[in-house]
Formats: sequence, C-alpha cells, structure tokens
Amino acid sequence: MPPLARVARVDQILRPIHRWVWSDFDRRVRKLLAFAEVESDGGRDILRAAEVTPDSLLRRLYLEHAIDELHHGDLFRQRGAALLRTRSSRLKTLFNGTPLPGGHGLDDLSVQNEPDHRLLAFLHVAEKAAAGRFTIYRDLVNDDPQTRAIFEEILRDEVFHMNYTYTQLARVMPESYRRQVWRARGNRLWKRYLRVAAAIAGLLGATILTIMYFIVLPPFAWLAKRAQRREPVGWVPISRSGNDSPTGLY
Ligand SMILES: [Fe+2]
Ligand SMILES: [Fe+2]
Repeated sequence: MPPLARVARVDQILRPIHRWVWSDFDRRVRKLLAFAEVESDGGRDILRAAEVTPDSLLRRLYLEHAIDELHHGDLFRQRGAALLRTRSSRLKTLFNGTPLPGGHGLDDLSVQNEPDHRLLAFLHVAEKAAAGRFTIYRDLVNDDPQTRAIFEEILRDEVFHMNYTYTQLARVMPESYRRQVWRARGNRLWKRYLRVAAAIAGLLGATILTIMYFIVLPPFAWLAKRAQRREPVGWVPISRSGNDSPTGLY
C-alpha cells in the first residue's frame, strides 16, 4: 500500500455511506462506469495541458499523467462492463449512483488560460482526495478481488500524481507553493459548496411546488368546479341593448 495515501476526515465520517454505495451490485457498476468517464475526461484535459504548457519538463510529466488517467478510465470501463455482463437483467437500482462526489474530482479541471502553478495546485488537491477515496473503496470491495486489484493499481498512480504535482509546484512557485495549495483547496470547497447548495435549492424548489400543488391549488379547483355547476348548460340568450350595431360582429 502506498504510504502517503491518507483518508480525509470527512471521508472517514462518510465511510458508512461509501460502504452502502459499494455493497450493492448495481450501484457498484454505476460507480465504476462513472469513474471511467471522470478519469477519461481528466486524461483528455491533462493532455491539453501538455500541449499548451511552455515548460518542457511539465509537458513530459503531464503526458505521462494523461496516459495514466486514460488508462484508469479504460480499467474502470472494462471492469464495469465485465460486471455488467455477469448479470443479464437491467440495472434496477432506484437511486442512480451515489450521493457522494466521485473519487477524483478532475471533472472540475479547466485547462484553458490556467497558468501551470494553478493547474498543479488543483491537480495536487484533486489527486490527494482521489488517493484517500480510492483507499476507502479498495477496502470496501474486498469481496471482489479483481475490482480491488484495479483500485490497488490506480492508487499507486494517484499517489505518484499527488507527489509529482506538489514537487513541480514547489519548483515553479518556490515562494508561494503552499499558498497556491490552500487557494486550490478553497476553490474546491467553494465548488463543492455550490454543488450542494444547488442540489438543496432544487430539492427545496420541488418540495415547495409539491406543497403548493396539494395545498394551495385544491381550493381554487373547488371554487372553479362550483362556479361551473352554476353555469347553465348549452347556448345562452343574451339581452340586446339598443346601442348594438346591427352590422357589428360583437
Ligand atoms: Fe486517475
Ligand atoms: Fe490521477
């Protein structure tokens, strides 16, 4: 086991939820396939970073990193597909996926117009979180040696990514690399907060609309029905006043 993969306290607290997610076959498959997407997307973004960086050492490291992430995406995809083939019926989990964020967090990565020091700080924080989460996931899939072996392999890469990004950040920003890491952590927390806030806002909106539908609308529906009952059925003669034009339409 890589010695530097530390599990964040929040993930230790959330361990029962992680256990619940991984204990179900369908959720496990969905999670693996979701990881495949995140890892492949991250790999493509880091490949782009390798293209645009002016630093030749970083270009080589980004390239290796991108290849690793694309490989992780393939591993997760193949394992998810293999598990899926073992069960012919459709996935029928009511709850689609997991309430927890994915392992990597690379989906927040934005390469365009980002200087290397910011990208490195972001990658370091994301890789550190991934290493901690994959440590938990590896322990939670003890009943599935093949998936566990994939997490073992990926974990080694994530620890390497976590370390090289920190070393390179200290090289390109020797005076302020710690500040850059704190800033990246702050940004990550802020994005997480926005996601949670948006989810809560969506939930509140749906709840309030449902309450309105069942509590506010029924009296109006009842009044409308009562008014409808008082209306005579069929054509209704209207009284003609002397002001009506004989040729007017109305
Ligand atoms: Fe990865
Ligand atoms: Fe990684």
